[in-house]
Amino acid sequence: MKRLAVFASGNGSNFQSIAEAIKSGKLEAEICLVVCDREDAYVLERAKLENIDSFSFSAKNYSNKTEYESEILEKLRQYEIEFIILAGYMRLIGPTLLQKYSQAIVNIHPSLLPSFPGKDAIGQAFDAGVKETGVTVHYVDDGMDTGPVIAQKAVPILEGDTKDILQKRIQEMEHDLYPSVLQELCHKKLT
Ligand code: GAR
Repeated sequence: MKRLAVFASGNGSNFQSIAEAIKSGKLEAEICLVVCDREDAYVLERAKLENIDSFSFSAKNYSNKTEYESEILEKLRQYEIEFIILAGYMRLIGPTLLQKYSQAIVNIHPSLLPSFPGKDAIGQAFDAGVKETGVTVHYVDDGMDTGPVIAQKAVPILEGDTKDILQKRIQEMEHDLYPSVLQELCHKKLT
């Protein structure tokens, strides 16, 4: 079983969908640790309910990224983590983690990259008036949502949609796509 750490900053619905996929046997892997950069994030409650250990930190208590990523790295070592799964983690990954986990950090982003990278990708697509957006799972490099694409699925933007309706449609797609991509990744069926 591959040992995963899920990194998140907020609600954690993607964490939940991965945890559910593991429980139902669709994803043969184990979430051993949740890493969160906001001490009040709901994902921490979800982790507790799932009996999964978490490590939360506040970047403002460290002088730089290297310092807090070194502490994260030590946790990852303790928990023997093999893959880092970013699920709504709203920070760029720095060289400390990238070097140790080269080709082993993946992210999900709510657009068809390279369109609409960065924050509020759903709002960006909605405001741009495009007819289609989507979801991308990609390897993480040192850029903002720029690493090699692993999988993409399109999501239509329909007449009468609000941003909330679109967000719900995109998140449903995320919750379906991410666990199935992770299953392939953990079992070496993907490059
Ligand atoms: C998800 O939609 C994810 O794609 C997005 O944050 C949301 C987190 O939701 N990530 C990014 O925008 C990364 N650039 P969740 O906390 O409910 O899983």
